[in-house]
Amino acid sequence: MSNAFHDKVAVVTGGSAGIGHVTARKIAEGGGTVYITGRDQDAVTAAAADIPGDVIGVRADSRSADDLDRLFAQVERRSGRLDVLVVNAAAIATAPLGTITENVIRTVFDVNITGTIMSVQKALPLLADGGVVVLTGSMAAHKASRGRSLYAASKAGIRALARTWALELTPRGIRVNVVSPGPTDTPGIAQLAATAEEREALIATMGTGTPMTRAATAAAPRPANRSTRCAARSPAGPPCTS
Ligand SMILES: NC(=O)c1ccc[n+]([C@@H]2O[C@H](COP(=O)([O-])OP(=O)(O)OC[C@H]3O[C@@H](n4cnc5c(N)ncnc54)[C@H](OP(=O)(O)O)[C@@H]3O)[C@@H](O)[C@H]2O)c1
Repeated sequence: MSNAFHDKVAVVTGGSAGIGHVTARKIAEGGGTVYITGRDQDAVTAAAADIPGDVIGVRADSRSADDLDRLFAQVERRSGRLDVLVVNAAAIATAPLGTITENVIRTVFDVNITGTIMSVQKALPLLADGGVVVLTGSMAAHKASRGRSLYAASKAGIRALARTWALELTPRGIRVNVVSPGPTDTPGIAQLAATAEEREALIATMGTGTPMTRAATAAAPRPANRSTRCAARSPAGPPCTS
């Protein structure tokens, strides 16, 4: 098991599901303390309990300044500092031009831009010099996809914010980076489809433009047991002993 996060304190916003939840699991597996957020108390509590290690679920809506203040106050009280901030919570919406409403504009930009700015700014006093900020962007910032102009624009904004913040935080040795996942099968993607069949079709379509011609999964890879490993080997190979 990796020790990469030994003694580190991390916050993963939107860590109660999908990519954020797997990210939190990796940090906990590496020995770190992780605070995960989401808007639903029960979901956040269950998601924290699902990860072995020092994982704390905090209900916090990234659009709410009060919620973020409570989150970072809790981190300060319990852990005293923050080393890693992963700003991952986002709103994914489909709205082709001509159908875009004020409500959907506000939802996407409130979470993806305002929420990201507030999350980073409110974490700053607690963030240790030499710490790390990771913003979850998207391939959508570079690649057109029908109906996703608002989401794409918000994720392009994330890249712009990160470049400037990286410059501004250099004196404190804080690195700011963006990860840009490709299409990934997560609860957030599933909720864009009305039925299980639609979801299967959506996931299949999303993967077609990728080198592997399939969407990624947000599930943490679990070590295969011996019989699974052996079954995956060629019968023509040496006897399977491990
Ligand atoms: N899946 C993809 O194909 C894909 C591709 C590229 C980039 N991304 C990016 O990767 C990140 C995670 O995506 P995902 O697909 O894993 O999403 P997801 O399955 O929908 O999970 C989103 C997480 O964020 C939380 N969340 C949503 N709105 C929030 C808010 N206002 N405040 C706090 N937490 C909030 C959700 O919990 P609650 O709903 O309970 O609040 C959940 O924990 C996002 O930034 C997304 O844009 C995803």
